[in-house]
Amino acid sequence: MNETDMLFYGSYAPRLKEITRELLKKVRMILDGISSDTETAPAEHLKARIKSTDSVRDKLLRNGYEATAENGMHKLSDIIGLRVVTHFVGDIYTVLEQMQQDPSWRVVLIKDYIANPKPNGYRSLHIILAIPFNCEGIDNIMVEVQLRTIAMDCWASLEHQLKYKKNIKNANLIVDELKRCADEMASTDLTMQTIRDLIQRGN
Ligand code: GTP
Ligand code: MG
Repeated sequence: MNETDMLFYGSYAPRLKEITRELLKKVRMILDGISSDTETAPAEHLKARIKSTDSVRDKLLRNGYEATAENGMHKLSDIIGLRVVTHFVGDIYTVLEQMQQDPSWRVVLIKDYIANPKPNGYRSLHIILAIPFNCEGIDNIMVEVQLRTIAMDCWASLEHQLKYKKNIKNANLIVDELKRCADEMASTDLTMQTIRDLIQRGN
């Protein structure tokens, strides 16, 4: 959190930072548990972020709310975001299962953009968690956890870079090509999963 964000979040800031730290620790424990059970690490990396002041303001205004931290805490579900990047597609559902069993939070919503990719080809599994906040009159905070493979993360990151280029010529062609890349990467993900299953079965 930079100085602008500290000022914007005010009295929520320390608790937001604390919850983010605790969440990272908990999820690392879940990942370590899976690693020792299966003798393979499910996650390539994970990272957490607290939404920047500009992003909170933009999103609130876009949704017709006044751009205050309090509104952010009540109306947004991704003030705290965690991204877990896994090696294989199967790892995503193993992590999901473990997260669903954890008493530290309540799973509010699961958006499976792997089973149901977005029309542009975006794939990931999003989990919205309610985590006890217990501070400044706020009981719970919604947190967004994104689970995706390295390939899905690669595509999302490149697509994100491209999206901010203005006045794209041949927009339809570009949309089609991006979608094709996403589908090809998903197909590779499935093949890699099959190879892993074969190796684990000792074939
Ligand atoms: P926002 O998209 O954040 O306004 O919220 P939403 O309620 O539509 O949730 P959704 O699950 O669609 O997306 C939440 C987050 O997922 C985004 O902030 C991005 O981090 C990621 N995401 C969703 N769609 C895309 C996409 O098409 N491309 C990329 N690169 N990321 C996406
Ligand atoms: Mg969206």
